[in-house]
Amino acid sequence: MRTPLLAGNWKMHMTIPAAVELVEALIADLTDLSDREVVVCPPFTALGALAPLVDGTPIKLGAQNMYFEPQGAYTGEISPLMLNEIGCTYVILGHSERRQYFNESDELINRKVQAALEHQLTPIVCVGETKAERDAGRAEEVVTTQLRGCLSLLKPEQVATLVIAYEPVWAIGTGDTATPADAQAMHAVIRHTLAELSNQQVADSVRIQYGGSVKPNNVDELMAQPDIDGALVGGASLKAADFLRIVRYAEHRA
Ligand code: PGA
Repeated sequence: MRTPLLAGNWKMHMTIPAAVELVEALIADLTDLSDREVVVCPPFTALGALAPLVDGTPIKLGAQNMYFEPQGAYTGEISPLMLNEIGCTYVILGHSERRQYFNESDELINRKVQAALEHQLTPIVCVGETKAERDAGRAEEVVTTQLRGCLSLLKPEQVATLVIAYEPVWAIGTGDTATPADAQAMHAVIRHTLAELSNQQVADSVRIQYGGSVKPNNVDELMAQPDIDGALVGGASLKAADFLRIVRYAEHRA
C-alpha cells in the first residue's frame, strides 16, 4: 500500500550538460516502471534544463532545499513558488548537511515543511543521529525529537502526505551503511512517533526512506525490511548504472 520511493540527492554536483546526460540515461531505461516512484534532486541550476526532459516520464523532480517565504528580500534563497513554477513536486528538507553546515534547526525546518505543504510540494523530511549520539545510546531520542520538532503543528492529513528519510549522519558518504536490522528498528520507532503525532492509519501510509551509503549491493536487503519504503541516495545516484540498479532493487533477486 506504500509505493516505494527511490530518490537521488545529487548534492552540489553536476553541470547542466552532465545532468542532462544522466537523466537521459535514466529515462531511456525506466520505461516500464509501475510499482515504484523515482525522483531526482539536482542542484537548482539544472532544474530548468531537466524539467522538459522528465515531463511525461516516470521520473519526478525534487529540489534539495527551499526557503519558507513565497517571495521577498531574502538574497540567495529559493521559494516554494519558484519550485512549483520550474516543475518540482518534491523538496528535500532538513538534510543533515544543511543542519550541520548551515545551522538549520528543527524550528526552521518545521516552517519550511509547512510552506512546502501549502504549495503542494511533497517534503522529504530528513532526520538522523550522529555517531556520538548513537554511541551514547541516544539515537532514538535524537530522531524522535527531530521528528516532533520538524512536524510540529501539522494536521494528520498533512502528515499523511509527507515522506520521511532516516539518514544516520555517520552513514552518509562513508560507505558505512546501517545494518538492515538497525535501520528497520529506527524506522519502526519513526512510524510509532508518526502515529503519536497523527494516528495509526496515517502513520501506516507514510513512506519512510533510508539514506546513508545506499549502494547497488545493499539496497535489496534494506528494501526487504517491512518499514523501509524507499531510499534517499547520494553518491550512488550520480552514476546512471548504479542508480538504475538501486531503482530496480528486488528485480535482480534470484
Ligand atoms: P550517500 O548520501 O548515499 O552518499 O551516503 C545520502 C544522503 O546524504 O542523502
